[in-house]
Amino acid sequence: MSQPAPLDPSPKLDLSPLSVPDLLCTSAMTTRDIERVFAVARTLKAGRTVHTDVLRHKRLAMIFEKDSLRTRFTFDIGMQDLGGSAVFMDHRDARLGSRESVKDVAKNLERWVHGIVARTFKHKVLEELAMHTGIPVINGLSDFVHPCQALSDFFTLSEKWGSVKGRTLTYVGDGNNTCHALIHTAVKLGTNIRVCSPEGYEPNARVVNEAMRVAQETGTEVTILNDPDAAADGADAIYTDVWASMGQEDEIEERNGIFAAYQVDEEMMARAKQGALFMHCLPAHRGWEVTQEVMDGPQSVVYDIAENRLHVQKAVLALLIR
Ligand code: CP
Ligand code: NVA
Repeated sequence: MSQPAPLDPSPKLDLSPLSVPDLLCTSAMTTRDIERVFAVARTLKAGRTVHTDVLRHKRLAMIFEKDSLRTRFTFDIGMQDLGGSAVFMDHRDARLGSRESVKDVAKNLERWVHGIVARTFKHKVLEELAMHTGIPVINGLSDFVHPCQALSDFFTLSEKWGSVKGRTLTYVGDGNNTCHALIHTAVKLGTNIRVCSPEGYEPNARVVNEAMRVAQETGTEVTILNDPDAAADGADAIYTDVWASMGQEDEIEERNGIFAAYQVDEEMMARAKQGALFMHCLPAHRGWEVTQEVMDGPQSVVYDIAENRLHVQKAVLALLIR
């Protein structure tokens, strides 16, 4: 019987620069950039803790204006796995730029650290940080997009399916940051994307128009609709997110009424392909955007996605930080 090959202690990673200096939005990445992130993530995931040479002695600043479990833990652990460290700044009491200008924050940080992860309300703040610093800025969620999430989502799908090309991902719910990032990423990777929201809660028209343009090049389909039954029909995966995002807490009651028909339940999953996957970025609210049966059922891959946040973000860090 042949022995499994021993783990290579220093597997070759292609860490040549991506076409982008920052990760603000996956729309700025090329398809090749995304595939390179996935390739490095696969190698890192296989070797897990044997890569402490990759970012040895590098430091990451993490500034969060909102709560986080997954993003905060995975970036911190990811830096440690790669031989570096992370410093966390809780900014929930004040928006970035309130004590001193965003420019000065950027100019100070670049003297001490090698990269920044920021979770902000305004996407513009991330752009401003990136504009004023020579170190990479990574979007850990803004009101506009959640690129690290979408990369982990599609990495997980590629693990499950082998290839995401030609498959159909249906997103049901609010046309929010998670949704925008999924749209941007799907069309780059050749995945058809359907977004189904109540009227008035559709994704940003500019995101959709830009995605439709890219979709023509990649031969994919972008469909925006309001009918959950039609959206679920024959889908390869169904994705949902909270109905009220962080910062929209005062709209929760109103939104719970408006979104009620958009809950992902077993009936909706039954309209999708047999064995279709259920996805959620988390945190999830069982009984609201998803039923407990679906969330905890056999088609749910929510914890696989959460696990992959670690591996995919390690790849992003390894590819961006110099
Ligand atoms: N999905 C996600 O970004 O989770 P956190 O808000 O816990 O970081
Ligand atoms: N749309 C959610 C995602 C959380 C990870 C929010 O912005 O709160």
